[in-house]
Amino acid sequence: MIVRWHAKMVRRCGEAMAEKLAVLFVCLGNICRSPLAEAAFRKELKATGLEVEADSAGTGDWHIGEAPDRRAQAVAKRHGIDISGCSARLVTSEDFRRFSHIVALDRKNLAVLKAMRPADATAELSLLLDHVKGREGQAVADPYYGEEDGFDVTWADVTEGAKALARHIAVRG
Ligand code: 4NP
Repeated sequence: MIVRWHAKMVRRCGEAMAEKLAVLFVCLGNICRSPLAEAAFRKELKATGLEVEADSAGTGDWHIGEAPDRRAQAVAKRHGIDISGCSARLVTSEDFRRFSHIVALDRKNLAVLKAMRPADATAELSLLLDHVKGREGQAVADPYYGEEDGFDVTWADVTEGAKALARHIAVRG
């Protein structure tokens, strides 16, 4: 099914306003899981025709300005996607107004996002795997300190999550 969803209409102060759909994926370092989630989500957008912006960020500052981990780049490449141009950045309070959806890769990062959420935030916060039936509450495991094949598990998890998230956005905005 091809779904084209240009904008969701929201009502504020009695007026109908178009709110752009934009998703920010958030993990700890923004060099492994969230750039892969962004890549998997972009792949799903391409496959479905859904028009949504996508970006990623981290809650930790160790890798700001760095390209994704070479193992993350390699798994993305095996699935036909070049993520070498991504540059790690920190999530900011402005992100809570800029993005319609902010999606955490694990519960710890979701808790950080909830704690830093400004009062005028408009973004809907969620955990990626909460969108997958039967996997609610699960984290996408951090592959950083593990072996290379852990990144295949990460790719499978973020792909499952990205497909479910795209379906959620297509239906609910
Ligand atoms: P990510 O993985 O949160 O999926 O990007 C990590 C990357 C770096 C570190 C931890 C997790 N680190 O401790 O430097």
